[in-house]
Amino acid sequence: MTAARAGVMTVSDSCSRGEREDGSGPALREALEGAGFTVTRVAVVPDDRPRIAALLGGWCDECSCDLILTTGGTGFSPTDCTPEAMHDVIQRWVPGLPEMLRAKSAGKVETAWLSRGLAGIRGTTLIVNLPGSRRAATECFEFLVPLLPHALEVLAGRTFRCGG
Ligand code: MTE
Repeated sequence: MTAARAGVMTVSDSCSRGEREDGSGPALREALEGAGFTVTRVAVVPDDRPRIAALLGGWCDECSCDLILTTGGTGFSPTDCTPEAMHDVIQRWVPGLPEMLRAKSAGKVETAWLSRGLAGIRGTTLIVNLPGSRRAATECFEFLVPLLPHALEVLAGRTFRCGG
């Protein structure tokens, strides 16, 4: 059995300019490693649709990640464009995961309904958009993690050692 490989992409103008420390990316990395993943890719990128899409597509097409979590850029701000970048990358949509994340998160904070995050598959990589704050990202990860072993096994036709 091999450990599943994960990528973490923080999408934030201020973090990418070094004006704010990225708390969410490192927290997701720690949570993923705690769940048995090997984190093979990490990046902080601005709210720039072509750049987000190019990096996501690259990580998928070079087969470096079984799972990619993005954090940030899912809200209503005029600059938020993570879901739009997903449209440039995804081959098969997975609507159930963001539905579940919003529904479970809304039990904690009603503004969870304001995240426009999406999930989908490119090749054999699952990409899930999480909201940007450290607390929101780690809350959503906890909701997601029980589903990941089965999801990734079916996607890759392999047996992984991770989570749940
Ligand atoms: N989901 C959880 N679990 N916890 C949260 O605190 N914050 C919400 C929502 N989802 C939140 C959450 C808020 S306030 C916003 S604006 C949206 O995520 C979008 O966040 P983003 O633009 O940082 O991606």
